[in-house]
Amino acid sequence: MSTPVKVAVTGAAGQIGYSLLFRIASGSLLGPDTPVQLRLLEITPALKALEGVVMELDDCAFPLLAGVETGDDPNVVFDGANIALLVGARPRTKGMERGDLLEANGAIFKPQGAALNAHAADDIKVLVTGNPANTNALIAKSNAPDIPAERFNALTRLDHNRALAQLAAKTGSTVNDITKMTIWGNHSATQYPDVFHSEVNGRNAAELIDDQDWLESTFIPTVQQRGAAIIAARGASSAASAANATVDHMRDWVLGTPEGDWVSMAVPSDGSYGIAEGIITSFPCTTAGGAYNIVQGLELNEFSRAKIDASVAELQGEREAVQALGLVE
Ligand code: NAI
Repeated sequence: MSTPVKVAVTGAAGQIGYSLLFRIASGSLLGPDTPVQLRLLEITPALKALEGVVMELDDCAFPLLAGVETGDDPNVVFDGANIALLVGARPRTKGMERGDLLEANGAIFKPQGAALNAHAADDIKVLVTGNPANTNALIAKSNAPDIPAERFNALTRLDHNRALAQLAAKTGSTVNDITKMTIWGNHSATQYPDVFHSEVNGRNAAELIDDQDWLESTFIPTVQQRGAAIIAARGASSAASAANATVDHMRDWVLGTPEGDWVSMAVPSDGSYGIAEGIITSFPCTTAGGAYNIVQGLELNEFSRAKIDASVAELQGEREAVQALGLVE
């Protein structure tokens, strides 16, 4: 067996962690031939609960799990990490303004970016799931000047997967029949799920549906509001599906996307599609050999352009807010 890949997970004792760790240790992330060492970060008061999770990991006797380290110091936990899944974040509590939320998360993602910069392995890949994910990723990236910027991604794969499920239900197909789904923008209610380039069994999805009203008044809001719908139904936010999407994103980044398809990844903009450089926003991406490329040359109709611009404007506003707080340059 090969050398274990070191996978750091933050917020490891939380809801998403409780699903995510077991998927990673069972081989869902890196495949059946790659052993993993888990490096789990929590805040001090949650270390006791984390101990219980680690006991359960032990009790699964996962053949691929080569070890588990836990702690509350990112400088220790991120040591030698090849992959970092940043899940732990500060949720918005009642009465909290956006500025307070960004500041509270800056206090988490700034030191974590610096710790990754100082201690992670040279091939580190970072995926931020903790909300506000895009801007948290921007903060971590800005505080890790020695790590190539493109190694910082944020999660919009859950939105992508939600859109696949909705489109499959509408067209009487399965998710296996659908390719080229795209989420553009922020992982927030302004995100834009775009089916104008999607295909259902090789046929253009928008033409097949031929129902702009359904797209505007049902599909897009359903995907945008799905997180809130799950909280309303379950009394807690999506956890298993968020863990699954975190696995999907990182697995595809490491192992590659299938020929003829792409996935949605929030990555630092290189100016593609006229989107402001540097913000971390969702694009259609293909991956191969551990690197991703933003799909180029898609024609955007006026409707799509306006939706993308609105979500990007929100992200620019978030960037300005964290710049004003001194969290990013
Ligand atoms: P949770 O509250 O159950 O767990 C979060 C954990 O993070 C807690 O155990 C907490 O102690 C820990 N934590 C807080 N600060 C930390 C720090 N500085 N270092 C290490 N750990 C820290 O929350 P849950 O349900 O697991 O969600 C985690 C995050 O994921 C939330 O921000 C949530 O909004 C976000 N999320 C993102 C989705 C996406 O698609 N991008 C989807 C669903 C959730």
